[in-house]
Amino acid sequence: MTETFQIEIKKAEQSRINEVDFANLSFGKVFTDHMLVCDFFDGYWHNPLIVPFQNLSISPANVALHYGQSIFEGLKAYKNIEDEMVLFRPHGHLERFNRTAVRMGMPQVTEELFIEGISELIRLDKNWFPKTSGSSLYIRPFMFATDDTIGVHISLQYKFIILLNPVDKYYSEPLKVMVERKYVRASEGGIGFAKTSANYASSLYPTKLAVQKGYHQLIWTDHKEHKYIEESGTMNLMCIINNTLITPSLSDSILQGITRESILTLAKDWGMAVEERKVTVDEVIEASQNGTLTEIFGTGTAAVVAPIILVNYKGIDYEMPGLEGRIFSKKMVETLQDLRKGNIKDNHGWIYKIPV
Ligand code: COI
Repeated sequence: MTETFQIEIKKAEQSRINEVDFANLSFGKVFTDHMLVCDFFDGYWHNPLIVPFQNLSISPANVALHYGQSIFEGLKAYKNIEDEMVLFRPHGHLERFNRTAVRMGMPQVTEELFIEGISELIRLDKNWFPKTSGSSLYIRPFMFATDDTIGVHISLQYKFIILLNPVDKYYSEPLKVMVERKYVRASEGGIGFAKTSANYASSLYPTKLAVQKGYHQLIWTDHKEHKYIEESGTMNLMCIINNTLITPSLSDSILQGITRESILTLAKDWGMAVEERKVTVDEVIEASQNGTLTEIFGTGTAAVVAPIILVNYKGIDYEMPGLEGRIFSKKMVETLQDLRKGNIKDNHGWIYKIPV
């Protein structure tokens, strides 16, 4: 970054906001009027620019297209009851972005670029907050290599971009998932913990096969025995067995979810027993059969808390508990919402008010 951090703004001549059907938002389809772009070269980040949302022009020899140095984050902005604009745990997302960057051999971004960049962009596009309950402004910061020479190498140049996407629910219905026992998402020593495009790319084909069979998503299992639950690709996984909240412990093959961590913290605040440990698929299926499993769900920024109502394991469909009895999930969704709205005290310093 140059000595004085400054964001130059080139405003869109005309807003596209009147073209948007805010009552029917689908994830990832509508973007606000502006985006932030910042270039890294000569060993540092140059001053960022906010420009009208637009296509990029890149070389066909762009090294990210060939070798995949490409990473991203996903976080959300909300309006609280005072009509202030707030971000949920932006510093946690910044830390994860930088951990991912290190693993992918990419430069880290500064707090100023990430947090002030998001804030400035949102101040400019503040009219784009959707208003329905459960909706938000999804923020997608991402970075990719921009060297245009195709020898395999760590790029010397990068682009960091922030997009804003008004969103409603990521999953519009309760999920039916299939336990994957052939393909592997990630393994020890790999990049599974990192929020890099490659992890999503490798999950697409196996997920497509599951979707063809009528499931929404996969449950990924460990790469050695396909015995232990890892995560779901778009979400971390949790269940409640015998009133204990149980989730796979983190490893280098599981994404370190910020919603995951928030839910575990709140559950502990409520005095609930919480276990982070290896979780076998067998024990979850067994608990669903003997009635000790009361809830199973995915967690993520986009998905928030997504109920799972059916799990396919070794070719058999197992019904999971119905939605009515899911007291914990319901309370958790309401609490997260109340935190963002400012209806309850933010004891953990998770809410960041965007300065106006
Ligand atoms: C998120 O939850 O923000 C994600 O990035 C998951 C998915 C939309 C890719």
